[in-house]
Amino acid sequence: MAPPTPFDAAHAARYDDQFRPLAPLRDALHLVTQLALNEAPERARVLCVGAGTGAEVLQLAPVFPGWRFVAVDTSGPMLERCRARLAEAGLESRCVLHEGTVDTLPAELGPFDAATAVLVSQFLVDPGERRRFFQRIAERLRPGAPLLFADLAADSLDGELMALWQRAWRHAGASAEAVENMAASVGRSVAIVAPREVEALVAAGGFDEPVRVFQTVFIHGWLARRTASGLAAS
Ligand SMILES: C[S@@+](CC[C@H](N)C(=O)[O-])C[C@H]1O[C@@H](n2cnc3c(N)ncnc32)[C@H](O)[C@@H]1O
Repeated sequence: MAPPTPFDAAHAARYDDQFRPLAPLRDALHLVTQLALNEAPERARVLCVGAGTGAEVLQLAPVFPGWRFVAVDTSGPMLERCRARLAEAGLESRCVLHEGTVDTLPAELGPFDAATAVLVSQFLVDPGERRRFFQRIAERLRPGAPLLFADLAADSLDGELMALWQRAWRHAGASAEAVENMAASVGRSVAIVAPREVEALVAAGGFDEPVRVFQTVFIHGWLARRTASGLAAS
């Protein structure tokens, strides 16, 4: 079965519309992101990992006119769409787009005063890879700098939460087949693990214990800070 979220050209073309009926959930997360990061300096450098079509940059850039952004994403088509949306909003001069991972990001683009990773690490189903993902972000941040990250998470996949999640997909117009594929992808191409497990991986990657600041159904959001020493737990 093809993975349901390949972020190829066809997916990138429909990405911004596919969950539009759920926009109030996304908007709430964006507002929390803005509030959580607003302590960053007036001329902050902000790293947006898994920036996709630019949602976080488009939310933050108009509110914080002195901030500059580096948007990192492994998908060329998602970044193309991001570039077009930034240009439309007149924001492209404040944002560098990097196709690849944080590992391949040129060092001179950092260090960063704040970072986001919204709905990205859940695609790393191997816990070691997921910890390293956060470690790479920590390495690019100044000590004590904030990271706002969000991922799907749940203590249990049975019962009310999964039923509600499937209803949310149907509300967004997903077909019965798409809902079924989504449920089947859990554990294969998308990790939905307990919030405490996610927090432990992030802390092991070089952050202080993350604080949960958001939840709607499976989507959890956390604020974490790079450890003051800059060192990851062994
Ligand atoms: C669900 S989208 C989220 C996009 C955006 N943050 C948003 O909330 O709309 C996940 C994005 O993460 C990207 N991605 C997946 N793994 C990645 C990695 N290891 N490094 C950078 N980007 C990654 C995908 O290509 C995709 O654009």
